[in-house]
Amino acid sequence: MKFPRLTTLVAATLLATAAATPALAQSSGKLKVGLMLPATGTFAALGTAIENGFKLYVAEQGGKLGGREIEFYNVDDESDPSKATDNMNKLIKRDNVDVVVGTVHSGVAMAMAKVAKDTGTMLIVPNAGANAVTGPMCGKNIYRSSFTNSQPGYAMGEALAKKGVKRVVTITWKYAAGDESVGGFKEAFEKGGGKVVEELAVPFPSVEFQALLTQIASIKPDAVYTFFAGGGAVKFVKDYAAAGLKNSIPLYGAGFLTDGTLDAQGDAAQGLQTTLHYADSLNTPKDNAFRLAYAKSYKQQPDVYAVQGYDAAQILGVGLAAAKGDIKNQDAFADAVRKATIDSPRGPFKMSKSHNPIQDFYLREVKGKENVVVGIASKGLVDPGRGCRM
Ligand code: BEZ
Repeated sequence: MKFPRLTTLVAATLLATAAATPALAQSSGKLKVGLMLPATGTFAALGTAIENGFKLYVAEQGGKLGGREIEFYNVDDESDPSKATDNMNKLIKRDNVDVVVGTVHSGVAMAMAKVAKDTGTMLIVPNAGANAVTGPMCGKNIYRSSFTNSQPGYAMGEALAKKGVKRVVTITWKYAAGDESVGGFKEAFEKGGGKVVEELAVPFPSVEFQALLTQIASIKPDAVYTFFAGGGAVKFVKDYAAAGLKNSIPLYGAGFLTDGTLDAQGDAAQGLQTTLHYADSLNTPKDNAFRLAYAKSYKQQPDVYAVQGYDAAQILGVGLAAAKGDIKNQDAFADAVRKATIDSPRGPFKMSKSHNPIQDFYLREVKGKENVVVGIASKGLVDPGRGCRM
């Protein structure tokens, strides 16, 4: 009689332990982080820099965030919006990740935000500036460590209007990031008395610029404003100079035009002015330490994408620590991130209500291999989170 009773007791204990294990594992086992970034195509180098920055912060914390060891799962999103939902599902359903970090391309990020909303998965966007991600798609499980597309454009619009520039042609890729960057530029520039006289675009990721450069030469605007990044930015800056436009029609852009690209752009980039929330010459203790650590780990200088990756990990760390490692406790996570000051290499920042950094935009100029700060173009720009309801 004793035996069966003992067996029942053991079985009941085992059952209770088994039931408790998933919850325990969730807040104390390894935290699975899905990195959905471009590893191929025009944005490949941007994806690498984000991953490097993210991993640098995790390494500085001894490999743990919120008390949990971090385990990585990677997907190459190819900057292809048509594959984004499947790629998210691979990470969430196949790999069972706890949080997704990604991506670079705005169209891909919008599909990711939709899946994150539908599944409740935590998403931290380390670059893509799609206005909608911290607008109508916002949520307590969606954060961005980078910027909103309209912000760098807005900062340059203010700067050029102040300079007294009157007629500008814009040129970009035809997709959310290009459209919204030009939108921000136009809003501030025309408010300041300028006029955008022509808006030119090529489809993403085309680098066939020749016909449009000929058009710019015939319009003869006072200046050109542009959004290109990665491999496309390298080609555009070189083509602009080769077309003989660099010295006759000044080229300005969102800072992605010259960030992480200067080695490849060489002389063609010298003297270009851009606006961005990071620069190579900040010379603050935090940025100096970050640049040194990054250079030691990866044998190259960091860029804005590396900073955004580093800060994505910081945001995850802040939220997870407050949630005591339980990524499902989204209220505690959100509350902590909203109250935190993130000690970023770009300068300390707080998050807006819609979970986008509130930050200064620097006016920078290319000197040698650096984007050197010339001044602050716009102070404390807040993403208004239009359409965000949380
Ligand atoms: C975007 O698609 O949002 C983007 C891509 C590269 C640099 C900046 C923004």
